[in-house]
Amino acid sequence: MTIRLHAKGLTKTFTLHTQGGIVLPVFDNIDLTVSPGECVCLHGPSGAGKSTLLRSLYANYKPDEGQILVEHMGEPLDLLAAEPWEVVEIRRSTIGYVSQFLRVIPRIGARDVVAEPAIANGMPADEAVAKAQELLSRLRIPERLWSLAPATFSGGEQQRVNIARGFIVDYPVLLLDEPTASLDAANRATVVDLINEAKSRGGAIVGIFHDEEVREAVADRLFAIGNQPAAMAVPAAAVAEVCS
Ligand SMILES: Nc1ncnc2c1ncn2[C@@H]1O[C@H](COP(=O)(O)OP(=O)(O)OP(=O)(O)O)[C@@H](O)[C@H]1O
Ligand SMILES: [Mg+2]
Repeated sequence: MTIRLHAKGLTKTFTLHTQGGIVLPVFDNIDLTVSPGECVCLHGPSGAGKSTLLRSLYANYKPDEGQILVEHMGEPLDLLAAEPWEVVEIRRSTIGYVSQFLRVIPRIGARDVVAEPAIANGMPADEAVAKAQELLSRLRIPERLWSLAPATFSGGEQQRVNIARGFIVDYPVLLLDEPTASLDAANRATVVDLINEAKSRGGAIVGIFHDEEVREAVADRLFAIGNQPAAMAVPAAAVAEVCS
């Protein structure tokens, strides 16, 4: 089986320069592989470092040590050694990231916010807008809101716009940080469908899901984080035990 994403020996500490230089170790020597069509779920208590790991995999945070090998345009590339322009390219076409909160761009309507990553990745504008509309309706954003800027949307509406934005490109690697956190049951089910569709077209997914039902519906494997000294992989069959 091929590996789409391989984080090797990742170690991350935060140094709080404004608070006496206190050093906070977050994770140490993590080894994580994700294959095409696989969804690995980061699992651990609040504060364990799940979001920090996910942000590191998107090159938002720089780990102190390790490599993040990602298959980009058919070649393995180390995200940590990549030039800034390469990181931009990788984010445009290879790695998608859905954060828990939408970073709202003032005055740009929801439909265009969603279509933008697809257009940037080379999809013709009319196709991207059609796909944006399809995603917005699947995620139950009322049509009357499509042309409005999401700044005034409810938390759950903003999150769904964010999810649509993350799924409009068929990213080979997709990172999801609690995408269902403030969604109702119907929309959670839609997100589960979107994730499973992404898996079946070969997407490699790393996700954080607090909702156990969602986790069981999408995860092939749990990756435990925060059980010092080292994070370890837990087979999906152990999900129920770990959670109970
Ligand atoms: N930018 C930062 N600067 C300093 N410390 C940080 C920063 N981001 C996170 N931390 C610290 O790193 C640790 C891990 O945080 P992280 O957000 O990764 O946890 P998490 O597992 O995602 O938790 P939750 O389930 O609550 O979202 C926490 O102790 C947090 O205070
Ligand atoms: Mg988190």
